[in-house]
Amino acid sequence: MASSMDNLPDSGQTLDTFMQACRKRISSCLAENLQQSADDARLVDALNYACMGGGKRIRATLVYASALAVEAELSLADVPACAVELIHCYSLVHDDLPAMDDDDLRRGKPSLHKAFDEATAILVGDGLQCLAFELLSNEDYQAEQSGKLQMLAILARAIGNRGMVGGQFKDFSLTGKTASLAELESMHQMKTGALIRASVTLGALTRPHIDKQDLKALNLYADRLGLAFQVQDDVLDVISDTETLGKPQGSDQAKDKPTYVELLGLKQAQDKAISLASAAQESLSQFGPAADQLRHMAAYIVSRNY
Ligand code: IPE
Ligand code: IPE
Ligand code: MG
Ligand code: MG
Ligand code: MG
Repeated sequence: MASSMDNLPDSGQTLDTFMQACRKRISSCLAENLQQSADDARLVDALNYACMGGGKRIRATLVYASALAVEAELSLADVPACAVELIHCYSLVHDDLPAMDDDDLRRGKPSLHKAFDEATAILVGDGLQCLAFELLSNEDYQAEQSGKLQMLAILARAIGNRGMVGGQFKDFSLTGKTASLAELESMHQMKTGALIRASVTLGALTRPHIDKQDLKALNLYADRLGLAFQVQDDVLDVISDTETLGKPQGSDQAKDKPTYVELLGLKQAQDKAISLASAAQESLSQFGPAADQLRHMAAYIVSRNY
């Protein structure tokens, strides 16, 4: 866990400093929990390989930013921040498998199934997913019982058959076909947007008796942001390079994946990401400066280059 000496995430920091503080906090939290989560040294190695080698930690950062926006106690955001990053890392390990996107590079290193083997990659994904729910439901996690139950239900729904899993399924069903804009939007919302939305919601739920209007506004922000995030991911697959991305550039096109760039063209896809990000910022109008990191995150998500 982060010590009191650490630079705590704060709503007044520059985005860089804030993201660094979140990254530091989440990395120590993840490292500690992964170490304690398995006995087999090779399994611990593989779990660490999946979670500790880079990663922008956007979802964890959104948990902290959302907790700040509702003026919650920040230490209560550590567990949900860990949970969403564990789920995200699981999803990447499975997404890269030969039966899925068949990508051999992730975060600048061989994908987990290359560094270890496919069976390990499948099991690591499964183990990370279980650990996320174990941490959230653990009695050591000090959030209110009703808030914890809501978090568990929201996370489970976000990553399940009507969320991330359903979205990944659509991704494969639509591969090689021409998707309509509505199909593409729904796929993106499910495969990527749902976990991003859950990250923002879980951050807000660290505050007991969260105001319903605040939660509604945050969910609208997160819906727009989640879609913007995946549109930018599609854009980067076209305009960036493998070294910067740390994953194979051009992978979508090579596999004839349904993407916003394929459907709208590059310029329109870029414009779409930018307008979604500013719409996300607009949905925060009822919040004061406490929500500034959420506003900064929206701008960052569509201007990032990896
Ligand atoms: C990549 O997510 C996968 C998608 C959902 C598009 P990120 O770009 O957040 O990946 P890391 O964690 O920073 O590597
Ligand atoms: C991944 O989408 C979505 C999930 C992992 C759920 P992508 O397949 O576009 O992600 P990258 O580009 O490989 O990171
Ligand atoms: Mg994929
Ligand atoms: Mg992929
Ligand atoms: Mg992609």
